Formats: sequence, structure tokens, C-alpha cells
Amino acid sequence: KESENGTSVNGAGGPADQRTAEGEDSKTLTTRQGHPVKYNQNIRTVGNRGPATLENYHFIEKISHFDRERVPERVVHARGAGAHGYFETYGKVGDDPISKYTRAKVFQEAGKQTPVFVRFSTVNHGKHSPETLRDPRGFAVKFYTEDGNWDLVGNNLKIFFIRDAMKFPDVVHAFIPDPVTNIQDTQRIFDFCCNSPESLHMITFLFSPWGIPANYREMQGSGVNTYKWVNEEGKAVLIKYHWEPKQGIKNLKQEDAEKIQAKNFNHATQDLYEAIERGDYPEWELFVQILSDDDHPELDFDPLDDTKIWPKDQIPWQPVGRMVLNKNPENYFAEVEQAAFGTGVLVDGLDFSDDKMLQGRTFSYSDTQRYRIGANYLQLPINAAKKRAATNLRDGQMAYYVDQSPERNPHVNYEPSSLNGLEETTRSRKDYTPKVEGELVHESIDRTNDFKQAGETYRAFDDVERDELINNLVNGLSSCEKVIQDKMIELCTKADENYGRRVGEGLKNHPNQQKGEHGPAGATGTSEAVDEAGQTG
Ligand code: HEM
Repeated sequence: KESENGTSVNGAGGPADQRTAEGEDSKTLTTRQGHPVKYNQNIRTVGNRGPATLENYHFIEKISHFDRERVPERVVHARGAGAHGYFETYGKVGDDPISKYTRAKVFQEAGKQTPVFVRFSTVNHGKHSPETLRDPRGFAVKFYTEDGNWDLVGNNLKIFFIRDAMKFPDVVHAFIPDPVTNIQDTQRIFDFCCNSPESLHMITFLFSPWGIPANYREMQGSGVNTYKWVNEEGKAVLIKYHWEPKQGIKNLKQEDAEKIQAKNFNHATQDLYEAIERGDYPEWELFVQILSDDDHPELDFDPLDDTKIWPKDQIPWQPVGRMVLNKNPENYFAEVEQAAFGTGVLVDGLDFSDDKMLQGRTFSYSDTQRYRIGANYLQLPINAAKKRAATNLRDGQMAYYVDQSPERNPHVNYEPSSLNGLEETTRSRKDYTPKVEGELVHESIDRTNDFKQAGETYRAFDDVERDELINNLVNGLSSCEKVIQDKMIELCTKADENYGRRVGEGLKNHPNQQKGEHGPAGATGTSEAVDEAGQTG
């Protein structure tokens, strides 16, 4: 039986013949070999007090399969929730047909629907960690398009901590628990950040209420990195993607998050699941920002720098479609845990930019998935394209079908061949062939401009957001060494004088400071209040 979204029931296929064995009925428990099970309470022993025998096949299957129930959790974004739905394109950008910018089929005909699977997540803690933590949220969308899969692997916030993939393992190591104590320590976080000034803009969002979205439904999404669109003429533009929730946006103050966490650490998964079960389907509109494909010297930032927002007033958000989530997974493991998204998964008409984070990410996702799930992870129903894949890839662990075309010669698993094997497509589409030249270097980009947008974001916050930001930063920094506090104050001051002054005064008056204490602070923020003059209480 196929579900509406084309995933088989339980997300895992199963045998075509669902009839029970001769003489049994549908309730009969069997082994994986199909043997009816007669004894499921007691292992086979010599007398009823043991010892046990080793040939007890059913017991060994049961216990050894249990021993292997987990696959490694994701190295980041381990905690997540997923749902199925569809994307519907508007077919245009403003008054122009969308084909002016991209030939990707998923966007062409207004009203056309494409099935999607979405996984939302937190980033830095384990698979069963609370969903109330101050952390970016993942927003990964798999589009099962007629040209194969397209993954848009984004976050809720529009920017990131770093702009070069080389630093990703470092930023993650600083944010996850200490390798000695196994406790997250704000000192390690701020130690990394105060020495990586490009992170201040993201820190300004993360320690404000924007760092704790109330749930997954009332949360924005963004592709964060810069991509390209390519049209029929082989011409490209630079693109940023943004998801805007029709439900509105809701974030939590630290204190409110703590109250929820005291009672429920699965609140966001529960909220999404229950909304879909009651037919209250969450919906997002997809917007793009478009820039011509060059380096834009007129901007005071580099359009390939993911620590920067592309200002809306200069580069408008243009609606291009909407997404509705209307079906819960039937098997969490098969559909959510084994889902594999990656930035390399693009279709014709969509392309990569030279954004250095995007380039690094594109190696990392499929690499980790070959380890986390296995070499044949793309044969799992949740990851497989809805159109037939026909490849010469063969074998490997858990290969459970051959992705060959039935009309072609099964003996030919190579190319080229004169014996009716698979061949390259002859569909002629103009290639996009950007010209690249330069010296190979290890260098940062020129327009780093680390503080201007951080200051603008600080000033754009309302009073509640700014007060929360100061509170959370002061509480987090209060347990850090002075050298780290001073460097953070310096960075905040460079962004905005008032920002730096308030953090400095808050720290001076913080009880930890007066006691001269430093120790690992368990979480990125506590709810102690710091007032306008920097007093805690
Ligand atoms: C998950 C690497 C930056 C969003 C992951 C995973 C890896 C990874 C290895 C685990 C994937 C899996 O096990 O299936 C990297 C690297 C980055 C980077 C190397 C930078 C160089 C980012 C950025 C974003 C992001 C900037 C936001 C746009 C996500 C999301 C997931 C994820 C949403 C979870 C996908 C899911 O739900 O399965 N990343 N990441 N990552 N990453 Fe990144």
C-alpha cells in the first residue's frame, strides 16, 4: 500500500505477499525468517532454572537485533522531527515568468505540486535532548521533483557563526559538551566566539529570544548560504532562499523556555505532530532574493559571506511558492532518523555559488551519511528519488535492489557499451560554464565587515529582545575568565557602543563576578535578570 506522498506504509517497503503462513492468522508473531513463534516469554533452558542453550534461534534473533537498533546519531542536528507535504510553485517572480531566472521544473508551471519531506532539528545536543535549548534550529526540505531530488538544507536564522568550512569542526566542538566533563560550557563557546569576530552577528541573534523558537511551526527558515539559479540560456543569478511561516513567528524568553522544559522536553515534536493530526496543517511561503552573478563591489559585504543578511530594502524578498505539511511519519526511524539531506543534492536549473561554506558542506553531508546510514542510503524509500534511478552503482552493505532500467541489459553494469546498457542523456540543455581563474591561496575574503550588521541587528531589536540579549549574554559570560569577557565586550562595543556598555556593566554587577567565580555553566543562558543599568536580580 502506498501513502498519498508515495512512501510505502511504515516507510520501509515490506514483502509483496502479505498473506500469513498456512494454518496461522494475522496476529501470529513470527521470526524474521517467517517461523511462527511459540515461546516468547522464556528462553530454552535445561530445567526451568537454567542454564540456557545456544541454539535458541528466536531468542538470539530478538536480542541480537535489539543490540543493533541504533545507527550513529547525526554528528550535529541529532534531535529532530519530520513531516510530509507538498510544495506548490507560483511559476513567477514578480511579474516575470520564473523561467527568466531558472529552468528548474519544480518552479515552472503555476499551481504545480511537488511532494516534500521536511526535518526540523536542534543542533548541538543529543538525540533526546530538550527542544527548549538555546540553539539554531535546522529546517531541511527534500523536494521529490520530476528531475530527481532537490534538498534545501537550511536553518531558522538567516546567517551563520563562520564563513569558512575549515572552521566548522571547531565551532561545533566549542558548542557541544566539554570533552572532559561532558557538560556544555559557555566559557568554551565564548572563547571560540571572542576569537572569531565574524560570529558576533549570529551570537546577537542566538542570545536574544530568536535563539529559542517557541516550536517548529512558528519559525522561519533560510537556506543561509548563497546558491545560483540557471535559465535556458545558461545564464545564472545569485539566490538566497527564505521560508516564512503563515502561522506567524514566536520565540521564547529564557524564563519561559525553562518553564516548558521543566514539564516537557519534547514540546516542539509534540506540537508539530498534534497540529498535523488535528488537520491544522502548517504552511510556509518560499521567498527568494536575487542578485546578478558577480561580486557586487557596491555592497559593504560580500554576497557569498553567510555571516551577512542581504538587506531586504536593497534586495527584495520575492514570493515563489508555498509549502504545506499534511502528513505525519508512520515510522520515525525509517522516515526521520534515516532521512539524509545534503547541499549537493540539486536539480537542473539550480546550482552552487562559490560560497566557501556551501562548498565545504557539499562534501560533508553525503560523506557522513555513507558512514551514518550506509553506502546504499539512497535506496531507502525516504531518500530514493520518486523517479526511477538507473545507475551502474552495485552491491555494498544492504543493497536491496539493483537500480537498473528494466528495458536495458542486466549484464551491463558499465558504460560505454554496445550491448544495450545505460547511456548519457542526449537532452540538450545549455551548460552553465562559469569562468574561474586566480592563484590558489588560503586567505579570508576582503569585505569581512564583522560588526556593522551586528550593530544594526542590535538596534533593530525591540526593548524586550535587547534586554533578553543582554541578560543572556551577561549570565553566560559571568562564568568566563576575564580575558574572554573583555574580548566579548570589545566586540559588542565595535558593533554598538550601547551594546558593549550594557554587557560590561552587567558583568561588573553580576554576583558571580563579585564572588570572582568561574565554573562551567551548564546551559547557554539562565533566567537571572539584568536590568538596564546592568544590575542582576
Ligand atoms: C546536518 C555538516 C553548516 C544546516 C549536518 C550534518 C553534517 C553537517 C555532517 C549531519 C548530516 C547527517 O548525518 O545526515 C555541516 C558542515 C557545515 C554545515 C561541514 C559547514 C561547513 C550548516 C549550515 C546550515 C546547516 C550553515 C544552515 C543552513 C544543517 C541541517 C542539518 C545539518 C538543517 C540537519 C539535516 C537533517 O535534518 O537531517 N551538517 N553543516 N549546516 N546541517 Fe550542516
